[in-house]
Amino acid sequence: MRRLLVAIAMTAPAAGAQGPTVARAMPAIVPLPSQVEARPGSFALSARTVIVTDAATRTLGRQLAGWLAPATGWDLAVRASAGARGTIALRRDATLAKSLGEEGYRLEVKPSGVAIRAATAAGVFYGMQSLRQLLPAAIYREAPVAGVAWAMPAVSITDVPRFTWRGGHLDVARHFMPKQFVKRYIDLLALHKLNRFHWHLTDDQGWRLEIRKYPRLTEVGGWRKETLVGPYEPDPAKRTFDGVRHGGFYTQDDVREIVAYAAARFVTVVPEIEMPGHAQAAVSAYPQLGNTGEQVSPMMVWGVSEYLFNTDSATIAFLHDVLGEVLALFPSPWVHIGGDEAVKAQWKASASAQAKIRALGLKDEHELQSWFIRQMDTWLTARGRRLVGWDEILEGGLAPNATVMSWRGDDGAIASARAGHEAILTPTHHTYFDYYQAGSKATEPLAIGGFLPLDTVYTWEPVPAALEPRYRDKLLGVQAQLWTEYLPDGRAVEYMAYPRMCALAEVAWTPAARRELAGFKARLAAHMERLRVLDVNARALDR
Ligand code: ACM
Repeated sequence: MRRLLVAIAMTAPAAGAQGPTVARAMPAIVPLPSQVEARPGSFALSARTVIVTDAATRTLGRQLAGWLAPATGWDLAVRASAGARGTIALRRDATLAKSLGEEGYRLEVKPSGVAIRAATAAGVFYGMQSLRQLLPAAIYREAPVAGVAWAMPAVSITDVPRFTWRGGHLDVARHFMPKQFVKRYIDLLALHKLNRFHWHLTDDQGWRLEIRKYPRLTEVGGWRKETLVGPYEPDPAKRTFDGVRHGGFYTQDDVREIVAYAAARFVTVVPEIEMPGHAQAAVSAYPQLGNTGEQVSPMMVWGVSEYLFNTDSATIAFLHDVLGEVLALFPSPWVHIGGDEAVKAQWKASASAQAKIRALGLKDEHELQSWFIRQMDTWLTARGRRLVGWDEILEGGLAPNATVMSWRGDDGAIASARAGHEAILTPTHHTYFDYYQAGSKATEPLAIGGFLPLDTVYTWEPVPAALEPRYRDKLLGVQAQLWTEYLPDGRAVEYMAYPRMCALAEVAWTPAARRELAGFKARLAAHMERLRVLDVNARALDR
């Protein structure tokens, strides 16, 4: 029954009906707002609706008009003042910061008009995203749709996110994703009120970021001769390859474009440059960065390479140069330096790494890795940025200002928080969206393994029960991971990301006490229609 009510709320009356008669039911907003009260009546959008802004919301007003124009065919006026009736008012009011925080908003829809109020531009933006979800799903079309009454149910919404870090990650190293897809991916994150795009730009199989000082990183490290076919095969004799050269990279102008695109949607782009491991593509470009002097090529199979950066001061200086160009491109307060899965065999065998361990008075290769990460932490901290790394950066001692992404379960987050460090929950068990989403693998595209169905994502309580309440404010939030060994293109990424990203968005945004699976599923059924209109290659819901 509940599903039916939701469907009615999202379906506009047929053309010719006597004005909008939108049912009074819980609107199908994803993620679910913290407070929603349905009210009688509805607001009918028309060609004469005026978007009223103040100076602080002018750009947002134009953005909203831009969202509404294609499907309605109306180029709504954006003005500083208008009559009180029939308007959509967007207001920033700093005094609301106390109740709504940095990202919350209030959205009032009355038959006489609509108002969005927030302390910040981000809050107004999220109010606009909710407003759009009060309209029929056809509002997401890019050409005028005939016969739709563009009505929103009257409602009073007060909405504040649970976590400040609401992330979506994308690996563009294993498979390069074109700029247009990266922007679309960000747009879909923003639609779900997610606010961090973690861009995994370098790995063993490819280096994707133009670095002016070191052009071979992309000229050589950005391309591999061919790629393994099928699942990972440990026996080299049994591997088959596709014979297709694969690669690509983002120029610095591409990056500036993507960062600006994300900023307009209140998404911070967090770049990841992997070190000391996952470095084979970099070592292929500049063998002197490695430990063996061998000329290797970017990896053509999956798994973890043993070719990690050496620990020479010239290599540290090279990485500082790279990060220098990264800082100029990315205004993000956070810079991710990877830190995961650094196989230490080459350091064990390297006279120079062993000499470094002795000279620095270190115990072992773990402490050498910790020293390596600290060279980046100190450098980033001096420039006003914060280092983020995967939870292996705890091994051998955590760098003083590091933030940890806990991927091997929750233990990394618990240890970091207890040590006074901020942490982000990115555990494989609930956030690795490269895992299968159905029990029967035969009917799903080839994936890396694992099993993470939609309901499991949704019912996840991310704050570990084992973590004492006094440390819980160290947990910044949650993030979904999209590793692309088995995802060759954007369609494949979307199939794995959606609808699980909708569930993750609700884990990230909605107060824990308001989350409820049956209600989510009912709203999601309506939300899937929006994703269909947007041509998102979402996996169909199980019946
Ligand atoms: C990771 O999945 N290696 C962070």
